[in-house]
Amino acid sequence: MTAPRVVAVDGPAAAGKGTLARRLAAHLAIPYLDTGLLYRAVGMTLLSRGLDPRDAGAAAAVAAALTIEALARDDLRGPSADMAASRVAAIPAVRDALVGFQRRFAAAEGGAVLDGRDIGTRIFPDAPAKLFVTASPAVRAERRWKELQARGVHADLATVRHEIDTRDRQDATRPVAPLLQAADAVLIDTTWLTPDQAFQAALAAVRARLAKAA
Ligand code: DC
Repeated sequence: MTAPRVVAVDGPAAAGKGTLARRLAAHLAIPYLDTGLLYRAVGMTLLSRGLDPRDAGAAAAVAAALTIEALARDDLRGPSADMAASRVAAIPAVRDALVGFQRRFAAAEGGAVLDGRDIGTRIFPDAPAKLFVTASPAVRAERRWKELQARGVHADLATVRHEIDTRDRQDATRPVAPLLQAADAVLIDTTWLTPDQAFQAALAAVRARLAKAA
């Protein structure tokens, strides 16, 4: 499958890939899709209907009926959404049901920046530009904790770190589409980078890849 101007941004939780991907999309003037929101919306739709996010049948049905409007729910950030998303994301039928949504989104505009866990490995294996954005678990936990503080959500750093470790484990060890760096992805380790430095490194890598593919 050829996918012109698809930029795949994968990486673990709280690595800063969302900020980076949004900024890349604005810079390249192409749409941006945070694919974590799809799994979050499926998880929270189930919870709000009193259903278990591990219920594969119900989760797949919700995923198949997902609309772009569901991504605007105001309860998609926070610990319950984090965990519900990670649970539904491990269900093969949910992932299958969301493949088309992601490919249609990018095709509709002739390209897009998508961030997630399997964009470069599964959704767009032929994407011309792929990044794998990561940072040490300690730095990711601290960034997530500061983000929560800034939103007025009380949490302690040790709990945030534990949640990040649990989600990393769940996302990286699930049998279906585990979090994995694509062989042809450029690694951006943001542990010691400012957001600006990370953006410049990402932009240089994406420009080089897009130019090569043109
Ligand atoms: O990127 P995020 O933290 O919003 O993602 C929420 C959960 O959804 C995460 O635990 C893993 C899952 N996810 C996934 O499996 N595949 C994606 N493309 C995006 C997210």
